[in-house]
Amino acid sequence: MSIIAEIKNRRAIRDYAEREVEDEKIKTLLEAATWAPNDRMREPWGFFVIKGKAKKRYEAMAYDYLQERFPTKPHLIESSLKVLKTTPVHIVVTADIVPGDEEASIDNEYAVCCAIHSMWLAAKELGLGLVWRTRGVGLVRDNRMYEFIGAPENKKIIGNLFIGYPDDEALKKAKAHVRTSFEEKTIWL
Ligand SMILES: Cc1cc2nc3c(=O)[nH]c(=O)nc-3n(C[C@H](O)[C@H](O)[C@H](O)COP(=O)(O)O)c2cc1C
Repeated sequence: MSIIAEIKNRRAIRDYAEREVEDEKIKTLLEAATWAPNDRMREPWGFFVIKGKAKKRYEAMAYDYLQERFPTKPHLIESSLKVLKTTPVHIVVTADIVPGDEEASIDNEYAVCCAIHSMWLAAKELGLGLVWRTRGVGLVRDNRMYEFIGAPENKKIIGNLFIGYPDDEALKKAKAHVRTSFEEKTIWL
């Protein structure tokens, strides 16, 4: 399939089969990420793979977060935890902050977004489903996640990628996709 067709067919996949993702495939995704464009070759990405025992610790952390945030919504807590428990692997992706250089730091974030998109497309080629999460149990903006990955200095979390083999439900949902025409978003000057 052409690159343009692949771009159009990429979808956020949020429902996964009960099947482990092979480390070789995770490594292929990480390798694909490192070929993303980046300003001055700073290669500003960092990856934290969460699976196995680490995933259990993540679930416990998310439970604390959910209890704190939604104390009166047990159903929401339950459904959010289910999402975590049924996701085989997570990759938290960070961008390097350049101390004292806001512009370089912002460019680093852009480069990491490109890297994540590459991983998203590569996942599809590998038969995997992926969604980039920032909200809720993605915990991208929560200090707990920074602690969880070892409180690295000068790194900003850009995304938490939820990854697994898509289940039938995911494939059904993935069919619906609509986009506003570029014509409504474009001014030719
Ligand atoms: C920066 C960013 C943050 C996102 N955060 C979430 C999220 O927290 N939860 C979620 O379910 N999807 C999240 N998504 C996925 C979008 O909801 C999804 O890409 C959008 O609905 C379009 O669907 P498609 O990716 O299948 O084209 C995020 C996507 C991006 C790019």
